[in-house]
Amino acid sequence: MKKITLQKSNFKKLFAALSLSAFIVVYSNAQTPKLTLDLTKPGNNVSPMLYGLMTEEINHSYDGGLYAELTRNRIFKDNPSKPEGWSLVNEDTINSKAAIKLMATTQDNVPYDERRHAINGALQTCLRLTVEKSGTRVGIANEGYWGIPVKPSTAYRASFYIKGTARTEPFRWPWEPKPTTPPLPDIADNTAGPITVTIESNDGKTVYASGTVNLIKSAFWKKYELTLTTAADVKPTTDARFVISTNRTGLYYFNLVSLFPPTYKNQSNGFRPDIMQMLVDMKPKFLRFPGGNFLEGPLITDAFPWKQTLGPLENRPGHRGSWGYRPSDGMGLLEFLLWCENMNAEPVLGVYAGYSLNGDHIDAGPLLKPYVDDALEEIEYIIGDVKTYWGAKRAADGHPAPFKMTYVEIGNEDWFDRTGSYDGRFTQFREAIEKKYPQLICISTIADAQYPNLKVTSGKKPAVLDEHYYRNSWAMWENASQYDKYDRKGPKIFVGEWATREGAPTTNLNAALGDAAWMTGMERNSDLIIMSCYAPLFVNVNTATATAPKAWQWDSDLIGYNALNSFGSPSYYVQKLFSHYLGNKIIPATAENIPTQPRPLTRRDSTDGITKAPLVPTVFYSATRDAKSETIYLKIINTTGKQQPLEINLKGIAKVSQDATLIVIKGDKPEDTNTITDPQKIVPVTSQINGIGPVFTRTLDPYSISILQIKTAK
Ligand code: AHR
Repeated sequence: MKKITLQKSNFKKLFAALSLSAFIVVYSNAQTPKLTLDLTKPGNNVSPMLYGLMTEEINHSYDGGLYAELTRNRIFKDNPSKPEGWSLVNEDTINSKAAIKLMATTQDNVPYDERRHAINGALQTCLRLTVEKSGTRVGIANEGYWGIPVKPSTAYRASFYIKGTARTEPFRWPWEPKPTTPPLPDIADNTAGPITVTIESNDGKTVYASGTVNLIKSAFWKKYELTLTTAADVKPTTDARFVISTNRTGLYYFNLVSLFPPTYKNQSNGFRPDIMQMLVDMKPKFLRFPGGNFLEGPLITDAFPWKQTLGPLENRPGHRGSWGYRPSDGMGLLEFLLWCENMNAEPVLGVYAGYSLNGDHIDAGPLLKPYVDDALEEIEYIIGDVKTYWGAKRAADGHPAPFKMTYVEIGNEDWFDRTGSYDGRFTQFREAIEKKYPQLICISTIADAQYPNLKVTSGKKPAVLDEHYYRNSWAMWENASQYDKYDRKGPKIFVGEWATREGAPTTNLNAALGDAAWMTGMERNSDLIIMSCYAPLFVNVNTATATAPKAWQWDSDLIGYNALNSFGSPSYYVQKLFSHYLGNKIIPATAENIPTQPRPLTRRDSTDGITKAPLVPTVFYSATRDAKSETIYLKIINTTGKQQPLEINLKGIAKVSQDATLIVIKGDKPEDTNTITDPQKIVPVTSQINGIGPVFTRTLDPYSISILQIKTAK
């Protein structure tokens, strides 16, 4: 699985690296550049859904990210051979004798005694704590996602299934093979009584919060819940673990061990407040989910299993995932929809379309029909009336009101399927979806411009095509005007994944300059580009520790965090500002004398026979206006390290307020960036400026993204 996803991502990394080289600025024109905004023309409409978000489980986006659960591997299925994230607590190895063991109840060839501990079809693996001798306390500890975040005056909700017993005689049916593990010793069952639950330092010396539950004698699973509250004087730290302990002998079995801090708006099974707030602040119009590669899965059997992500956590087994770790699916279909609701954004649902990352596909026809039916059911869960089967399920899950949805995407990056099967697969999905839901618009994942030989040709032309671009800043600057030339009679474009890939784990200022330039091109053409979303959205920035691997798989991401804190990359602020300062009409704009610089030649150029460095502009712009509030939003990007004067001509405007609001993102060096320890190095700065008129000059700061909010009348 890893190999497959790496192949795909490496391809993109390589492409970016090949075209990356030294930053040389050559001014080809000394005259003051001039920008004319033609307000005499009505201008096209700005797409009302232009800026949104894209998400998938990558880089610990949810587990160890937006999803607030703090316990890593809460149902013990992350690794079949060891209880990853868990360890034995035994501080008195002289007087105590204890061990932990993963009990994989579905494995054959293990004694009946070990196989009898499933709670249901989802919770089939548990952890056994064997206490033969107990001096002080012994227990199990969870390390969390690179630590358990401890904050002052905070109430954590702990819950877990536990049962305590003594040794039961290993039982075997006569036809079963002999067990390979030695039988347990006789251990007195003293399990009934208080069980201590703590959030404590990793060395066990400081207890930040503690509570007990009273384990009753029962051979059956029972769920226990309690609240652990930290004191007001506790210092925030991630150097902490979650421990459940006892001082009595016996066999203790654990499953679905959960620890939740307070969540965004106290939603149950909810989201980290800091990260959700950053998303809400972006004011996105839609959320594309559940992937990305995460939709497809490494194999056909690993596609996003939306049905088993619904309902109580007890029913969610998790699944294989596409990025080298096992998602808990605590972040399920309904959680994605509630996330949309929190942001007042529409879902853009990706449905699995029968192609997986290893290259396997299911041909259109009867074999694909169950997948089409599955997608129809998923759509019914989202938009169906409560009288429908899946609409009723959604209501039972706590959300009777259908969600508003306009777009459904059929698959993800099906251009990787070079067999040409997408034409038939897309058509089969589209026809079935349109038949049942004529109001829905189906998006094709193959861009005509990029893959003319693979594009959908059967039946009606797809109404919308999804294009993906992962590039370096040079390529972004070079291609920022690519949509100026697109055919307006063709399908609309959804730029469903894109990013300037510079900086790791989050992007740097140069990437933000690439992003902003690229966004001016999308914005100027937003009669054509109806939606766009950056990817990937999230990254857990933790590097490898002795027990946990590095948290991320993909460099250059938008929002970074560890267990305690989060921060926006310079690209995050570009996204946020572009979405905030946006009118509803595009102002036709033209520029003269924009300085250019030579783009360094790449290996790809030499393959393509290009020997002379192409010149790329150094200044980029887009302008929109809001007719109602009589406001102009002008975005200008200076990608160079020199100040750049720019004459701005507001053609057709008789009256303009002398004062304007200026918002600037800038830095000293292209490599400048924000980090978890220095999260505010590059942030937007807002000021009031004057001297605005129908014609005025602004000097752009080096390496800057400027937004001018200009009032045009009264
Ligand atoms: O954004 C990371 C990955 O890039 C997505 O999962 C995939 O769609 C694309 O190849």
